[in-house]
Amino acid sequence: MPVRRDDGHVYLADYQPPAWRIPHADLRFDLDPDATEVEARLRLEPARPGEPLLLDGEDLELLAIELDGQPLPPERYDYDGQRLCVHGVAAACELRTRVRIRPAANTRLEGLYRSGSLLLTQCESEGFRRITFLADRPDVMPTWRITLRAERRAYPVLLANGNPVGSRELEGGRHEAVWENPHPTPGYLFAIAAGPLARVSTTLTTAEGRRVELNVWAEAGDVERCRYALGAVERALRWDEQRFGRCYDLDVFNIVAAQDFTMGAMENKGLNIFNARYILADEATATDTDFLAIESVVAHEYLHNWSGNRVTLRDWFQLSLKEGLTVYRDSEFSADLHSRALKRIEVVRLLRGRQFAEDAGPLAHPVRPQRYREISNFYTLTVYEKGAELIRVLQALVGDEAFQAGMARYFADNDGRAATLEDFLAAHAAASGRDLSDFARWYAQAGTPELRISASFDEASGDYALEIIQSQPATPGQPGPKAPLPIPLRFALYGPAGQRVGAAPQTDAPVRGDLLELREARHVLRWPGLGFQPLPAFNQGFSAPVRLRFDYTPAQLATLARWEADPFSRWDLLQQLAVQAITGTDARVAATEALREVLAGLLADDGADPAFVAECLALPDFDTLAEAVPVVDPQALAGARESLLATLAAALEQPLRQRYAALAAAAGGGLQASAMAARALRNACLDWLGHLDTVPAQTQFDATATMTERLAALRVLLHRQAPGAEAALAAFRERFAGDPLVTDKWIGLVATRPAADALADVQWLLASPWWKPANPNRVRAVLGNLSRGNPLAFHRLDGAGHRLIADQVAAIDPINPQVAARLLGAFEGWRRLRSGLRESAEAALASLQDRLASADGRDLLDRLRA
Ligand code: PHE
Ligand code: ZN
Repeated sequence: MPVRRDDGHVYLADYQPPAWRIPHADLRFDLDPDATEVEARLRLEPARPGEPLLLDGEDLELLAIELDGQPLPPERYDYDGQRLCVHGVAAACELRTRVRIRPAANTRLEGLYRSGSLLLTQCESEGFRRITFLADRPDVMPTWRITLRAERRAYPVLLANGNPVGSRELEGGRHEAVWENPHPTPGYLFAIAAGPLARVSTTLTTAEGRRVELNVWAEAGDVERCRYALGAVERALRWDEQRFGRCYDLDVFNIVAAQDFTMGAMENKGLNIFNARYILADEATATDTDFLAIESVVAHEYLHNWSGNRVTLRDWFQLSLKEGLTVYRDSEFSADLHSRALKRIEVVRLLRGRQFAEDAGPLAHPVRPQRYREISNFYTLTVYEKGAELIRVLQALVGDEAFQAGMARYFADNDGRAATLEDFLAAHAAASGRDLSDFARWYAQAGTPELRISASFDEASGDYALEIIQSQPATPGQPGPKAPLPIPLRFALYGPAGQRVGAAPQTDAPVRGDLLELREARHVLRWPGLGFQPLPAFNQGFSAPVRLRFDYTPAQLATLARWEADPFSRWDLLQQLAVQAITGTDARVAATEALREVLAGLLADDGADPAFVAECLALPDFDTLAEAVPVVDPQALAGARESLLATLAAALEQPLRQRYAALAAAAGGGLQASAMAARALRNACLDWLGHLDTVPAQTQFDATATMTERLAALRVLLHRQAPGAEAALAAFRERFAGDPLVTDKWIGLVATRPAADALADVQWLLASPWWKPANPNRVRAVLGNLSRGNPLAFHRLDGAGHRLIADQVAAIDPINPQVAARLLGAFEGWRRLRSGLRESAEAALASLQDRLASADGRDLLDRLRA
């Protein structure tokens, strides 16, 4: 049980193994939305003799308690609403408790709760204790028997972890289902689901010869929209067999889709529970981006079965051991199935736009934190996305073959265990023969490393050199100085005609082909007598998650964008060019012209993948731009971005129109890559053309059958305030009135209209019947989009945007503290705002000081204001 120190934090350094083991748990539920009774029989064994028997249990109504079949008198135990202490037990025993809980009143959506006609659970991280008593920590791993009883009419389907082992009818219209989970499984992976569920289903045989039934369940009207997700499970299962040799290990794999879910999805053993937005899809209601996201989240949760479940965590400090690793695995899955370059672009956009910002602000923390007050605030981009990048760094450092061997060793050595980062590193060190103690620093030091690179060329001797200086920023609790990190940096030199320079540099850093391994704070690379001044390029494929500074002229960036073969690098160079065109001073005009020229070339190139061209047309988003400047002036940044778009759109009007028209047939329908790519580029062209003319958007809106094209058209109409915008919105709204996920989509467009007065539209939404503060997806649609996707309205000069979000955080905190805390995170960049806005953000935060009751909200607020 984590002990809190006087400062309210739990520390990694204080870890103690469990005092009691729980080899088996037998649970019986009498399900009812208003009052569910849970009877638990826990087999208990002392692991460290003499320690008291303490179990977690939050807000449980204790109805009965027995030890080894004998009712316990009140003096034998204490329960304070948080923790149950049983006195005077020293030996193995069986504890039986009966508690009552209230699912319908559970708006936090942790523990057992109601969503529509379903009863569901969510237990990660510490939700199990809201169901019944347990040592609710990931290194306590019972096997489970779970009996569910409920009224058959309201709850015809009863699901739990593991395999179904029996069912029967009971008196009074009730029925019972029994499940067994033979794999040692911590409470955070426990799940049940009950309700009028329907399914799509398939069966297959694993590479080990196990017959497995795969089911995706949803409320009856939605079940046809589960087919794509079912296919994704099968693809993920096969991919893990082939790529990592990991097979599925139960007779059935169930997924349940729920409309009310705080996060994206949850990898409970054998019974994943999903936010419906990551399951339900058909072409009329979901965009191509939705389909890809569904496939990747389905894969993510499936892949957790090995990276998270079979090998679980010793404690919550190790969170990235499952999350970073599983994000790495799901992105490899997507890269293998689709385009590796496009997947990399998507990942790097998120990392550079959002994770870098997190790592540079008041919420920065190491991938493995040293301490926490509220663990739910550590499900962050740093733990997930930077954590995944660190796996990639490791792979680059040890090489592909040793990495693959290290993964096999990690799974084999830790199967059935609750592991640590040290276990992971030990497996990789053994497989690669490399000492990984330097690499381990990546997990301990917060902040994005910066590489400053400068070139020198001596005309007389023809000597060329690059000096690379590595530095680590100070972060909260880590003022520095920090040790240098091992950084795998890809690089290339180009001669005057674009030929690759093959000569290896002289340097004290290890070099393998085009991969340089930086180890010290400073390295120099020399090419004596090279004879000309080459053009260098760095970090191809984003081999290292660093900020890199090298002074390129716009012309050099444009030249490199032609020479570099790897599409990711070409995209990256164009992004840098666009950043110069938007935030630059002297280089601005030249950068704009260079960008126009390259984009004109790409639009004219029928051989280029349209999806790639679409990525190149997507200029850096606001977050990425904000990362490139020391002080953030939202109005100036958004204005400069907008005017660059308008200038380029005017200059490229003809090619944009041509490409838009030429791709019409290919864009028709279907989910094959060529159709998706055509739609992506057409929608990018439509968006640019919207700066000149909204007629094509209106035509597309009226004619299309796919959500991908309909939503893109509606976005242009609304954001450009086209004459037909209101009518189009009303038509869209009515057409999909019964569908909460599509309703979230139009709400998102309204909340992100790039104008200060979009705040009035958000206020209108908050007063409308569409506002559902207890539904996390709706909160994100209205307020997440405003705060993270609409800088002009959120950072309104009169402070009204900041105040609105602060007031809503206060209102949502008592309903769902995790959702409120995430919303509050939108203030993470407040210290870097221009003056005026900084004060207004500070005042909004100060106004929350006495308005947040939850541990989640208070923790985040204190860190933001520290
Ligand atoms: N573990 C989930 C994942 O796959 C995320 C999650 C965390 C879901 C906490 C619910 C609660 O990433
Ligand atoms: Zn995960």
